[in-house]
Parts: sequence; structure tokens; C-alpha cells
Amino acid sequence: MKWFLLRVLSLWSLALIDMSRSENGFEELIAEEIYPSYFDEEAVFPGANSLMVPLTLIPGAVSKGAVCLDGTPPGYHLHRGFGSGANNWVIHLEGGGWCNNIRTCVFRKTTRRGSSKFMEKQLNFTGILSNKPAENPDFYNWNRVRVRYCDGASFAGEGQDEVNQLYFRGQRIWSAVMEELMSQGMQNAIQALLSGCSAGGLASILHCDEFKALFPETTKVKCLSDAGLFLDSLNVAGGRTLRDMYAGVVTLQGVQKNLPSSCTSQKDPTSCFFPQNLVSNVKTPMFLLNAAYDAWQVDQSLIPSSADPHGLWHDCKVDRLRCNSSQIKFFQDFRDQMLNAVKIFSWSNQNGLFINSCFAHCQSELQDTWYGNDSPRVGNKAVAVSVGDWFFDRSTVKAIDCPYPCDKTCHDMVLK
Ligand SMILES: *[C@@H]1O[C@H](CO)[C@@H](O)[C@H](O)[C@H]1NC(C)=O
Ligand SMILES: *[C@@H]1O[C@H](CO)[C@@H](O)[C@H](O)[C@H]1NC(C)=O
Repeated sequence: MKWFLLRVLSLWSLALIDMSRSENGFEELIAEEIYPSYFDEEAVFPGANSLMVPLTLIPGAVSKGAVCLDGTPPGYHLHRGFGSGANNWVIHLEGGGWCNNIRTCVFRKTTRRGSSKFMEKQLNFTGILSNKPAENPDFYNWNRVRVRYCDGASFAGEGQDEVNQLYFRGQRIWSAVMEELMSQGMQNAIQALLSGCSAGGLASILHCDEFKALFPETTKVKCLSDAGLFLDSLNVAGGRTLRDMYAGVVTLQGVQKNLPSSCTSQKDPTSCFFPQNLVSNVKTPMFLLNAAYDAWQVDQSLIPSSADPHGLWHDCKVDRLRCNSSQIKFFQDFRDQMLNAVKIFSWSNQNGLFINSCFAHCQSELQDTWYGNDSPRVGNKAVAVSVGDWFFDRSTVKAIDCPYPCDKTCHDMVLK
């Protein structure tokens, strides 16, 4: 009986992903196929070693109009710090693609990406959210928060669509969650780190200086963007898949007014949703953690099926050993664009970098990639150690790997 229930749950989560794939031309939820699903067997009957942290909704946010796409309240998961970490906070912004038109935003209302009705009631805290020193050496005893993502515009939209009953309130969700966490004790923070992965990694760039401004000067505040370096690149057919998508997100969700004026005074709003046009203007110390061949970007931005209708790139996309020399060169060009995008950023002593030559996406959330015996390394230092060294000023961290295939420590994602 138990196993039957489990089976149904996992089938249901697969069905959900399938639906989103067919509903959404951009297949924004693809990463979930390669991630362990939170609906997996273990999640239902957690092992003794798991730290399952309950979801807290913020009903009071609704009166401020800080709501998910469907009008439900936003939420977060908080596990309290202890000992020397009791007054330190790491705030991790969840990712999960974007919605760029009415159809894809309406679809999200029936998922956890657009409604707190569908959010998991508890999540396994791992990687940067783990409470065990052996898994998370520097932040394990901090207050650790995972902020749920249900606006579809990296916590930066402002608007609504009456006809379709859609609320674009990412910026208000950001403010409401910060207000809530301040009242939960974050106002007394001695040290604080804003992190985030994927769409949340972009959000951490967008909100970094706002986060810093919440605290007095004496608080040590820094930001980490994991897999947030989305580049304005050409796909294999010469088109700009991601720019086209971002234009939809920015326009539909009213993101422009929340983008940094240092960028919007110079460039069009869609360009100002791209980190390459933002990171060198962030004043707060920031760390960029990204795979040079980010698996999501390879799959969704560089080689989306729309740009490869005859599947000429398929074999190479799923297995690099089957790429020919011009295909490898295409990936190396992408890496060059990424290094170029962070060049000025990297000149600042306060900033940190970890760009490993892997086909991965989000390396701070999963235990395997954050900290472990065989986790990814650059210069023999794991991601967790590199981020810690930078945060605590133990050393300068400008870790840039030599190009593919020199890194033997990668945990690459399997694309289909
Ligand atoms: C939680 O994460 C840990 C570390 O990755 C893992 O060992 C454990 O099995 C996970 N538990 C659940 C319930 O998924
Ligand atoms: C590599 O494969 C692509 C896709 O099939 C093809 O367009 C290109 O000409 C090939 N390049 C070489 C050097 O064989």
C-alpha cells in the first residue's frame, strides 16, 4: 500500500513535468528531470539523517498585494541557527525558470511555481542549507532560509492581468519576505549572505544591494549567485532564444521599474535583466558560482529543440564525446563569453568567482556538488570551501578552470 502511494506520487510529479513541457514551449522546468525530485520515495519517509524543514506561509503579505501568480500568499522555510551562528543568516532564493507570456504564467498557477497551494509542505535542507558541519562547514549553524519562488520573474515583477487573474508581484514578495525575516530576528544579524540558484541566482544579483541596505553598516553582508549567469548568447541557429524569452518576462511582468537605474539609463530593459550588464555595478561584495557550460543554458538557450529542428546537435548535447570539433568550439566560445562577462567584475578585490568547466547547473544546493569527498573542485578546493574562504576573507577566490575537458571533478547533468 505504501509503495503504491509512493509510485502514484512519483508518477504524478513526472506527469506534472511532462505537462509543463508540452504546455510550455520553453520547457522551463527541465532541470527538475535531472534533479532528484522532492516528491521522491525518500522525501515521503525521510531518512534519519534528513533535515526536513516545514513551509511557513506569510498570510499577512496578501493585504500588501505580495502574492504568487494565483493570488496565494508567498512562503519560506526557516531553520534556526545556533551557537556562534545564532545571529548569522543565509537567505537562499529558490529558482525555477520564468514565465514570459499569459499561457505559461497561467499554467504556473497550477504548480508550486505559481501557487503556494501546490508547494511541498517541507523540504530537505542540503548543501548550503545543511545543519551539519560535515556537509556545510561554514554556514551549518547559521539561520538558513529557503525562499519559495512563485512569481515567475526572479522576484522582480510588478503588475497584474485582470482578465486572466494573474498577479505579477515578485518585487512585493521580495519585500514582504524580507520584512517577515527581519521580524523573525534577521534585524539583529551580524553576518548575512543572500544566495540563490538559477532564476534565484539572477534574483540574488538583482536584489543584492537592496539586501545590503536592510542592515546597518556594521553588518557584514555579501551575495552569492549560483548558476545565475544567464548570457545573452546566440543559439546554434543564430537566434537569441533567451533574449526573446526575457523580453516577454520583462514586458509582461512589469520588471523594468525594478531594474537598476545604473543599467536602464544606458540600455534597454531586457538587456538589464542579463547579469552581464549588471554584475560590475553591484556595490555589495558578490560571488559568482557558475559552470562554464551551464547545463540549463546549453539545453534551453544554446541548443533548444527549436534551434535544432533536425536534431543535428542531439548526440553532442547528451554526450560531449560525440561532439565534433566545431561543436566543441561552439561550447568554448560560450565559455569565453562567460569569462568576458565577468571580467570587470573580477577586478574588484571584494568579489569572488568559481567558474568550473562542467556541464552542471546549481552547485550550492545539492550535497554532491557543494561539499563532499568527490565534489567539484578548482585548485583542489570544493565549492563550499571557496565560498567560505571568500565570505570570511580567508583568501581571495578567483577560481577559473581550464577549458573542457580538463576538469575531472565535474558532476555533469545528464541531458536528454
Ligand atoms: C536529504 O538530503 C541528504 C543529503 O543529500 C540525503 O542523504 C537524504 O537522503 C535526503 N533525504 C530525503 C528525504 O530526500
Ligand atoms: C559538426 O556537426 C555539425 C552538426 O551536424 C555540422 O553542421 C558541422 O559541419 C560539423 N563540423 C565538422 C567540423 O565536422
